[in-house]
Amino acid sequence: MAERRTAIVGIGAYLPPKVLTNFDLEKMVDTSDEWIRTRTGIRERRIAPEGIYTSTMSVEASRQALQMAGLRPEQIDLIVCCTVTPDYPFPATAALIQKDLGAWNAFGFDVQAACAGFLYGLTMADQFIRTGSARYVLIVGVEMLSRVTDWQDRSTCVLFGDAAGAAVVTAAEGRGLLSSRLYLDGSLWDLIYLPAGGTRLPASEKTVQERLHFLRMRGNEVFRVAVRYMGRAVREVLEDVGLTADQVDWLVPHQANHRITQALIDYLGLSAEKVYANIEYTGNTSAASIPVALVEMLEKDLLRPGQVIGLTALGAGIAYGAALLRW
Ligand SMILES: CC(C)(COP(=O)(O)OP(=O)(O)OC[C@H]1O[C@@H](n2cnc3c(N)ncnc32)[C@H](O)[C@@H]1OP(=O)(O)O)[C@@H](O)C(=O)NCCC(=O)NCCS
Repeated sequence: MAERRTAIVGIGAYLPPKVLTNFDLEKMVDTSDEWIRTRTGIRERRIAPEGIYTSTMSVEASRQALQMAGLRPEQIDLIVCCTVTPDYPFPATAALIQKDLGAWNAFGFDVQAACAGFLYGLTMADQFIRTGSARYVLIVGVEMLSRVTDWQDRSTCVLFGDAAGAAVVTAAEGRGLLSSRLYLDGSLWDLIYLPAGGTRLPASEKTVQERLHFLRMRGNEVFRVAVRYMGRAVREVLEDVGLTADQVDWLVPHQANHRITQALIDYLGLSAEKVYANIEYTGNTSAASIPVALVEMLEKDLLRPGQVIGLTALGAGIAYGAALLRW
């Protein structure tokens, strides 16, 4: 009997309808379509309008994932919501997702691993499934960074987009998670962070005036560690299962910047055709980027049973990692 592994049996995505192009951004800050495209690969991103929240995007994506899995919400045992932009500081956004879906038999929590969120969520789901404490886990990678972006800061506001992706996982034979590795380098915690609103700098008139409720990033330094850390993590998961980079059918990296992806391709010696990219139309959607990419690949009929798929991501923390799946 083939080994049972944690496998994706349903997946869904939600992108808000409003498109913000680089040309729109030219009217907001001192930037240009040309700068953004050549430095990041992004042409446009989606921005959630008033009335749409992290939980609402999550529920849309989750319904699609449940439908594909052929499950009712009550069959979900665990909801893992991966986000750094929750509806509220507490309770967990998982609670709001549970309520709106009607997933009354699930327990749940939020995971805060920024852009590495989906990888963290998938790996945590795997632990619950392998110990038998959950049969069906709903993992949501969701981010609404537009609400914590400083729209006067050209170095960050051009990068991010809003989106949600959701996956239902359960134990399956002959497919699923082959290996995953998670890492955290807290020595670099301040490369990407949101200064105020926590216990160090509670909200005050001063924090608002000083624009401290918006994310800050030293993009150039993130860039430098991103390739090395993600590249190493991918090599490790390949070693775990005795595969070489050319035996991977697809690498789906977190969509942060097309130059990071290009450097990763070079580092790993992969052929560019095997690396999925959609940053052009989504921007960096943080925890949502990998599941959103997988949904697109499925829609384009790029995913076939038996294929080996590598995932890798890195974000604030610095939290990062890689995983290998057999589809
Ligand atoms: C943010 C990022 C695109 C910036 O690209 P970069 O090549 O590193 O650019 P730098 O930050 O060195 O800035 C270069 C110049 O462009 C300017 N610049 C920054 N943003 C700009 C914008 N939107 N439009 C025009 N010019 C801009 C800077 O002010 C700087 O000007 P200066 O040389 O006169 O000081 C890039 O560092 C990046 O993508 N990093 C990774 C970030 C990331 O993915 N973070 C999330 C983690 S998943």
